[in-house]
Amino acid sequence: MNMKPQPSIITIDGPAASGKSTIGEMLANHLGYLYFDTGVMYRAVTWAALNAFGAVQDEELVSKLVEEIKIDVNQPSQCDGRKCDVLVDGVDVTWEIRNPEVDANVSQVSAYPAVRRELTRQQRRIGQRGSVVMVGRDIGTVVLPEAPLKIYLDASVEERARRRYREEIARGMESSYEKVLELVKKRDLIDSNRALAPLVPAHDAKFLWTDGMETEEVYRKVLEWVEE
Ligand code: CDP
Repeated sequence: MNMKPQPSIITIDGPAASGKSTIGEMLANHLGYLYFDTGVMYRAVTWAALNAFGAVQDEELVSKLVEEIKIDVNQPSQCDGRKCDVLVDGVDVTWEIRNPEVDANVSQVSAYPAVRRELTRQQRRIGQRGSVVMVGRDIGTVVLPEAPLKIYLDASVEERARRRYREEIARGMESSYEKVLELVKKRDLIDSNRALAPLVPAHDAKFLWTDGMETEEVYRKVLEWVEE
């Protein structure tokens, strides 16, 4: 029997549609850990700003809003494909945060320092309890740099856009590959170039380029790292 201790905090970072959430959830289920996707929190703030103001351009307003709203990320209450429930002030917005308007605005909102400060604080509190697989853009670099295992998944922008396009079609959404590609490129650019907590691999992260790899292959590689 393998009695080696598992790393108690595992971080998975990477750009849009790099496979972080699929792999993160599989790994968390396998280890009996909490799976926590930090992207849903940035999406929830974006949804709340669009809902309240119809736009996200006013940094001051959005910065105030993030202090006022309550975001809850809970275990899934329904079997409709969701990985968690996302609530804003008690309202279930799990599917609303995936709509194209949120997609188009979330990178701008997540570049606002006050938004990052507040969400990072909340994420650290959850992560430091341990037994967690936390997924995002800056988890290994900023949120939980002390994590013993940090993983960074990446793939070409075309491959990632293809994956996201397939996901959207499977969910019954209207989608076009060209539009998805354009949006993913735009988000990559903003996420990688923002001043605070940009998307970069931690210097000690395990890096995997996943073009042409099946999910199972990626998962096997990640499990090897967990067991190392
Ligand atoms: O699922 P996908 O990879 O497309 O995106 P996501 O993980 O839901 O994240 C949505 C957006 O939130 C990203 O494009 C980032 O702008 C932002 N984000 C961030 O800045 N930091 C994180 N730790 C997680 C997400």
